[in-house]
Amino acid sequence: MKKLLIIAHAPSPNTEKMVASVLAGAQQSEFTNISAIWIPPLSATAEDVLACDAIILGTTENLGYMSGALKDFFDRIYYPCLELKQGLSFSYYIRAGHDGTGTNNAIQSICKGLKWRQIQPELICRGPWQENYLTECHSLGESIACGLDIGIY
Ligand SMILES: Cc1cc2nc3c(=O)[nH]c(=O)nc-3n(C[C@H](O)[C@H](O)[C@H](O)COP(=O)(O)O)c2cc1C
Repeated sequence: MKKLLIIAHAPSPNTEKMVASVLAGAQQSEFTNISAIWIPPLSATAEDVLACDAIILGTTENLGYMSGALKDFFDRIYYPCLELKQGLSFSYYIRAGHDGTGTNNAIQSICKGLKWRQIQPELICRGPWQENYLTECHSLGESIACGLDIGIY
């Protein structure tokens, strides 16, 4: 079984719905070769990352940067995972009330440092809330789970 890890900060009703949609997309019954779980970033450990085959990150943008929770996750897993998880498949989504640029740049920079491999374009849900963000989150979870399930990641 391949393991898909979703590390997402969800501090509001909208962001809770976003991570639920990513998870629903990834946990479809037709995907028989994978397991997908959501762990909030403050609870996730380096061992969780070492044991996974792909990762979807999710964060709000706060004060021009990723959430402190996701940054704390990176701070704790960076060196324990640096040598052992090079090439790890990943993608991410950002919920940004206005912008998202600072968060996007920071995630790109850190994941480049980790030498992770981005397997789907990032999803930036910017501006006033739109219900179609949930469809896009569902598709992100689905596409990565599908790729893992059929063995292309
Ligand atoms: C303290 C604080 C700082 C924020 N800073 C930014 C920011 O720098 N850029 C941005 O796009 N949105 C910013 N936001 C908006 C959040 O991204 C948004 O409220 C969050 O993603 C939750 O989205 P929701 O209201 O749809 O649940 C900020 C929100 C808070 C509470």
